[in-house]
Amino acid sequence: MEPRASCPEGTASVERKIHVLVGVTGSVAALKLPLLVSQLLAIPDMWKCRTDPVLHIELRRWADLLLVAPLDANTLGKVASGICDNLLTCVIRAWDRSKPLLFCPAMNTAMWEHPITAQQVSQLKAFGYTEIPCVSKKLVCGDQGLGAMAEVDTIVDKVRETLGTCCSFPQS
Ligand SMILES: Cc1cc2nc3c(=O)[nH]c(=O)nc-3n(C[C@H](O)[C@H](O)[C@H](O)COP(=O)(O)O)c2cc1C
Repeated sequence: MEPRASCPEGTASVERKIHVLVGVTGSVAALKLPLLVSQLLAIPDMWKCRTDPVLHIELRRWADLLLVAPLDANTLGKVASGICDNLLTCVIRAWDRSKPLLFCPAMNTAMWEHPITAQQVSQLKAFGYTEIPCVSKKLVCGDQGLGAMAEVDTIVDKVRETLGTCCSFPQS
């Protein structure tokens, strides 16, 4: 997705495109992807482009912001320990940590409450990544409790706010 952004003060007054890369993992919360992407694309001046798959280094160069939504327990564990065995985990492993990476954990309450989850989330934060915390609700599996992905509106608001900080993206 490539919105336009004004240049920071003091730089040439040339508009540039901003690239948001959305990473998706195998949480049931991936059901919300159409809603999430449609709302991200509704950010003013956002327009979409589709490309053929590209290598992880090209993607890390292309993207200004990486949003991993949902981030499931499996990929959380991989990222925390540096494993990179698919395109998404390779992009994350190669990520330029001067650029924002936002992650939205989503998993069953029992998985969320396992003590390793807090350790791994802390590790990701120590890498400089930003957690968009999960919420408590009735999960798709029928259980009630923490572990549901943050609401799409919350995620989109955080993306907009972060783009405003990192890329001078207009907020209105
Ligand atoms: C229907 C279904 C729903 C799932 N939902 C979740 C989930 O919400 N959170 C989670 O951590 N794993 C969930 N899983 C398990 C992951 O899909 C599984 O760990 C998978 O290996 C993750 O692979 P990935 O991290 O490479 O996407 C679910 C599995 C199935 C079959």
